[in-house]
Amino acid sequence: TTQRTLVLIKPDGVARSLVGEILGRIEAKGYELSRLELRTADGALLEQHYAEHVGKPFYAPLVEFMGSGPLVAAVVSGHRVIEGLRALCGATDPTTAAPGSIRGDLARDWGLNVQQNLIHASDAPESAEREIALWFPGL
Ligand code: CMP
Repeated sequence: TTQRTLVLIKPDGVARSLVGEILGRIEAKGYELSRLELRTADGALLEQHYAEHVGKPFYAPLVEFMGSGPLVAAVVSGHRVIEGLRALCGATDPTTAAPGSIRGDLARDWGLNVQQNLIHASDAPESAEREIALWFPGL
């Protein structure tokens, strides 16, 4: 099944000059970059993107961090790409993300409650379509 998913290389990934490394891993796995853009996200977009986390203690710091500098937004396509990207990313927590994964190899645990974990990828087909519509209206 060909799918598409939304990938965000978070501001820590851009600030640490890991964009090429992260995109290289996605391309090397055989996935296609359908859209790719460097941009600084505004609060309204981030609040919609993270709507499911409203009320959680990490919500406000997460929105602030995600808007703190440029990030890379991409639509990535391929066979079972939603599951595939989640596996490439590794677990949310940089400390326990498996070696070999993007977070396991590259994310540092700064003691910031797993906020700066380099990359976001949609977790299900419905969230992928919802997120793609937010970040790339009309695509
Ligand atoms: P992401 O895949 O973008 O989806 C939700 C984000 O919330 C997650 O990556 C982390 O960056 C962040 N997150 C999840 N759990 C926590 C937590 N316990 N504390 C702080 N941030 C979190």
